[in-house]
Amino acid sequence: MNTKRQPALLDTVIAHRGASGHAPENTLAALALAFDHGAKCVEIDVSISADNVPFVHHDDTLDRCTDGSGLLCDHRAAELDKLDASKGMQNYQGEPLPRLSAVFDLLIKHELGLNLEIKPRQGLEAATVDAICALIETSWPSHLPLVFSSFNRSSLGFALERLPDIPRALLVEGLPDNWPELIELYACRNIHCEGSRLSASQTASLRAEGLGVYCYTVNDVVMAQQLLESGVLGVFTDFPERLLTALNP
Ligand code: G3P
Ligand code: MG
Repeated sequence: MNTKRQPALLDTVIAHRGASGHAPENTLAALALAFDHGAKCVEIDVSISADNVPFVHHDDTLDRCTDGSGLLCDHRAAELDKLDASKGMQNYQGEPLPRLSAVFDLLIKHELGLNLEIKPRQGLEAATVDAICALIETSWPSHLPLVFSSFNRSSLGFALERLPDIPRALLVEGLPDNWPELIELYACRNIHCEGSRLSASQTASLRAEGLGVYCYTVNDVVMAQQLLESGVLGVFTDFPERLLTALNP
């Protein structure tokens, strides 16, 4: 048992890409809706434009979620600002692809905690982390929960160097055998993994090491209950209102 390590706490129910089951993912509308639905914490994905401005977006390319095309990192911020990220959802036409700065403004206004997933284009890891950290230094209030996570290991390393006091989560699908080494290497306080691939005994081992365990993407109430009963601290869901109503955390 590692008695020194403490989990980096988020919340029991975390809105995954905002209330993305109802509104276009990773938009201001989805994040505002998550707040309206009672969420106290959200997860977003962040990468950078050609001129190093952080934007909130899941994919490398713009095609699935916006009316643009090609790589996000090949476009300058002023071009990205003109895109429609409504994903064809009628009620959300004209919804912008948000800059991280605009998302911070909204989250701070509503006092929402944040899991910021660093999703760099390959080769842009250092620049992505640097742009994100610069904005955190000027804009993010210390009283609101903030946890970095990334599938991209070097991003965790750069985050550790750049802003060591912001806690880090190792983000994985299934739990790799070398998780103890990775946790030490990047000084992580949490592991975030795919809920359907995590066993109760794995959760117990992670929790015994003082790690916080959070699972994505859990839209099913029964699965959420089972994970929480096994020691998972919280779940990322596209339907925060569904889980908040059922679990009443
Ligand atoms: O951070 C949890 C989850 O968002 C990781 O997967 O692909 O939805 O970003 P993805
Ligand atoms: Mg994500």
